[in-house]
Amino acid sequence: MTAEFAGNQQLIEILYLVASVLFILSLKWLSAPSTARRGVLAGEIGMVLAIAGTLLHHGIVDYKWIAIALVLGSGIGVPLGLVQMTAVPQRTALSHAFGALCVTLVGTSEFYLRTPDVPRFMMAVLSMEVILASLTFTGSLMAAGKLQEVLPQRPITYRGQNFVNLGVLAIAIVVAVFLVLHPGAKELFPIMIVVPLIFGVLMIVPIGGADMPTVISLLNSYAGLSAAAMGFVLNSKLLIIAGALDGSSGFILSVIMSKAMNRSFTNVLFGAFGQVQASTAGAKEDKVVRSATPDEAAGILAAANRVVVVPGYGMAVAQAQHKVRELYDALTKRGVDVRFAIHPVAGRMPGHMNVLLAEADVPYDKLMEMDDINSDFPQTDVALVIGANDVTNPAARTDQSSPIFGMPILDVDKARTVMVIKRSMNPGFAGIDNPLYYLDRTLMLFGDAKSFVNSIVHELAGNTH
Ligand code: TAP
Repeated sequence: MTAEFAGNQQLIEILYLVASVLFILSLKWLSAPSTARRGVLAGEIGMVLAIAGTLLHHGIVDYKWIAIALVLGSGIGVPLGLVQMTAVPQRTALSHAFGALCVTLVGTSEFYLRTPDVPRFMMAVLSMEVILASLTFTGSLMAAGKLQEVLPQRPITYRGQNFVNLGVLAIAIVVAVFLVLHPGAKELFPIMIVVPLIFGVLMIVPIGGADMPTVISLLNSYAGLSAAAMGFVLNSKLLIIAGALDGSSGFILSVIMSKAMNRSFTNVLFGAFGQVQASTAGAKEDKVVRSATPDEAAGILAAANRVVVVPGYGMAVAQAQHKVRELYDALTKRGVDVRFAIHPVAGRMPGHMNVLLAEADVPYDKLMEMDDINSDFPQTDVALVIGANDVTNPAARTDQSSPIFGMPILDVDKARTVMVIKRSMNPGFAGIDNPLYYLDRTLMLFGDAKSFVNSIVHELAGNTH
């Protein structure tokens, strides 16, 4: 070993070590709104160091193809990073698809380079790598297609579907076991890629478009595990660490999302949840609701001492966060105590509301998590719900027949007055009616979230002068 080679190797190890530490810190910082930006930066620097370390690798004899790949990847990555906030779930799914494709290709080349002398442990890890990565590739493409509505969102189900799907996966596992015992049987290797590719498609077919964010986070976890397996194959500690972090954080996130919706994993994966929307959305009854105008709403808000704003998916769709910030300023100036109640699954992706409100510079200490704010609703003068629906539905507490029964909700119905901004009486994600809207203390503020909040802000400004 030359001194130059040893020095290079040492530098690579140091870069990888610093990158691993930054990845861990990034995840830690990402878990609180006040440190989230630092978390993103730490992750980015970690990734740059990891790439730099890899480029120093002695095995690289020519940088031409790497440079082409770098330009091509940046050409795809930059526009992908500029999509609208509401398109982030499908953008994330596409990133997983690219990552998984890369892992599948690396696994394939490693197999053909090493066969027939692949030790059993190595073959087992390699099989896990390509099976997980191949199914993640097609599964993520399907998930992105459903979310972008280029594929039908509705779950497609048939009798015996789970049996068929699991049977397909079993074929891949049997082939993997055979290859572990007989790594020379290289003609079987393509089966271990093609069959999981088919499974990835079949796995997503019965899942409704609305459940895709949870599924994407699960696919994230598969992609991480496959990358960790690749780390064993390539003997890269950095890949093992990064893959394990990705795998475990993706899994934890899907558990948090399922819990917040009070659904089991099996219900998300096999429950064909989107069908509920179709069957119950039409069943509207002729119940009476009370509505109010922007100037009435402004009057009620101006007279309040304590206001809790409850944002939801409609605020994201309307891009109303900056107007909501103006409303916060106008009320705070009048001495009203305004806070924001954040439900863990409000919107369509984890942290959706935090990101939007942070973008509008709402102070972090005004964002309250569900468990911290729920006991305050009885002392709240006005709960102002902006484009949220399911996360405020009291049926989750009281109606055992409701599909969301048991889901923890924000107890806005306990506030003295409830005002709800939405455009119509249409249901939200779960496709069910919301009894909150028919309470005596509830006023419906019908309209687009951005323009309605804007009108309230104008009314408040008018009242001042
Ligand atoms: P939803 O229950 O989906 O309700 C959103 C409401 O916003 C709708 O009722 C809609 O009523 C209204 N809306 C839409 N566009 C609007 C606009 N431009 N202006 C004003 N209102 C508008 O939202 P939520 O309360 O945030 O609950 C989230 C749901 O998504 C939960 O059921 C959750 O389980 C599910 N989910 C969340 C996630 C994550 S991670 N966040 C992942 C998967 C599923 P109108 O049409 O009448 O306006």
